[in-house]
This record gives sequence, structure tokens and C-alpha cells, in this order.
Amino acid sequence: MNIILLGPPGAGKGTQAQRLVEKLGMRQLSTGDMLRAAVKAGTPTGLAAKAVMERGELVSDEIVSALIGDELDAMGIESGAIFDGYPRTEAQAVSLEAILEERGRKLDHVIELDVNENALVDRVTGRFTCATCGAGYHDKYQQPRVPGTCDKCGGTEFKRRPDDNAETVRTRMAEYRAKTAPILPFYEARGIVSKVDGMADMNHVTAAIEDILAS
Ligand code: AP5
Repeated sequence: MNIILLGPPGAGKGTQAQRLVEKLGMRQLSTGDMLRAAVKAGTPTGLAAKAVMERGELVSDEIVSALIGDELDAMGIESGAIFDGYPRTEAQAVSLEAILEERGRKLDHVIELDVNENALVDRVTGRFTCATCGAGYHDKYQQPRVPGTCDKCGGTEFKRRPDDNAETVRTRMAEYRAKTAPILPFYEARGIVSKVDGMADMNHVTAAIEDILAS
């Protein structure tokens, strides 16, 4: 099964993708994570992407579509894919069609996380992750069980993203409204879009997504 999680910054795409990976053994393909890894490694892609990401704007369609194609090739056909943060433009949606077809895959579901944008700045600016294993946490909504210690790996170092400040989040939201939300009709016309209340408790969101995938 191949699915897209769609929603603005802070909608819960990464949170829900991680849960589906754990529960269903699918693979998370997050272009944001891939780009951050490229920035950290100082690759040509990372050098091209760094300033764009810090401004909250979109990296070029060619770069992200190439990353997705490479990742699908590396993971093999047997695992289902969760596209998290991709596609984000009409050009990327068109590329994804070709990328999947070339690899004998098809898209089964597009799950739109329906959220109140006013609550998202708080979600994004309060977010932090374990520096060792990448597990996600939040100052208010998802603290580690033992303060200062990662629930999953016991790590004690945490980090925050440089683009998780209020000003950049607003630019990212504007980019979502202008370039990403308009791709929904492309998938609605194929009858594969389901809307989930992304403002519900995280467990309820997961259950709603699992119901859709089981349908
Ligand atoms: P990316 O990394 O994809 O960031 P994003 O889309 O802005 O999404 P986020 O990671 O901020 O949000 P999320 O929906 O995953 O929320 P999360 O689950 O963490 O992209 C970063 C940048 O890379 C872009 O700005 C762009 O420059 C570039 N880029 C990436 N992909 C690209 C592409 N395809 N094309 C071009 N450029 C691209 O949740 C947020 C917080 O809320 C967490 O702390 C979580 O604990 C909490 N939370 C989650 N769900 C709930 C809930 N139900 N209730 C309460 N709290 C919740």
C-alpha cells in the first residue's frame, strides 16, 4: 500500500507516519527528513536546500522528486510507502505518478489531516526530537515519560529544528496554502482522498487513519 499524508506544517504528518511505521511496518518517506540529512552531510543537495528551508520556502521540484525516486529504489517493492511532506506542488504530484508507475506501484490513499491553522504555530514551535533516535516530542503535548530522557532509546540529548520559529512557520503555512492545498482536487477526482480530524487526540488520529487503510 502507498499513501500520502497531506497537511500544513504541524498537522501531524511525521507523528502519524512514525506510528504507522511501528504498527504496520510501512516505510516513511519524508522529504523534509531527507533534506535535513543532506544539509547535515553538506552534500550538493544540502547546500542548495539549506537557505531555502531556513526561509520556509519550497526546495526545487527536481531535487525532491529525485530524492523520492532514489529512496523508493533503495527500499524495494515489498514495503508500503508513506509519503510525508511530498508531493507539495502540482509538478511533484505529476512526477510522483510517473515515479510510482515506473516502479510498479500505485497510490492507494491520500489522507488529508484537517487542522485549525491557529493552533499549529504552538505545535511546531514546541516540538523537539531525540538527537540519537529522532523520536518526536512536544513541550506541552508529548513530554518524555522521564523528563530529559528519550522514551525509546534512553538518549539525553534533544534538538529543535532551525525552521521551527513562528516567523518561518507562517511562511511555510503560506506556501502550503498557495502551492500544496491546490493539489487536493487532482486526487479528489480519483476518489482516493479521505479527511481526518487532525485536531483530535493523537491516538484518535492514528485510529482514524488505520480505519481508512483497512477499508
Ligand atoms: P517538512 O519537514 O516536511 O516540514 P512540514 O511539512 O512543515 O511539516 P512538519 O514536520 O513541520 O509538521 P508535521 O505535519 O510532520 O507535524 P508533526 O507530526 O511533527 O519540511 C521542512 C522544509 O523542507 C519545508 O519548509 C521545505 O523547505 C522543505 N521541503 C520538504 N519537503 C519538500 C517538498 N516536497 N518540496 C519542496 N520543499 C520541501 O507534529 C508537530 C508537533 O505537534 C509535534 O510536536 C507533535 O508532537 C504535535 N502533534 C502532532 N499531532 C498532534 C495532535 N493530534 N495533538 C496535539 N499535538 C500533536
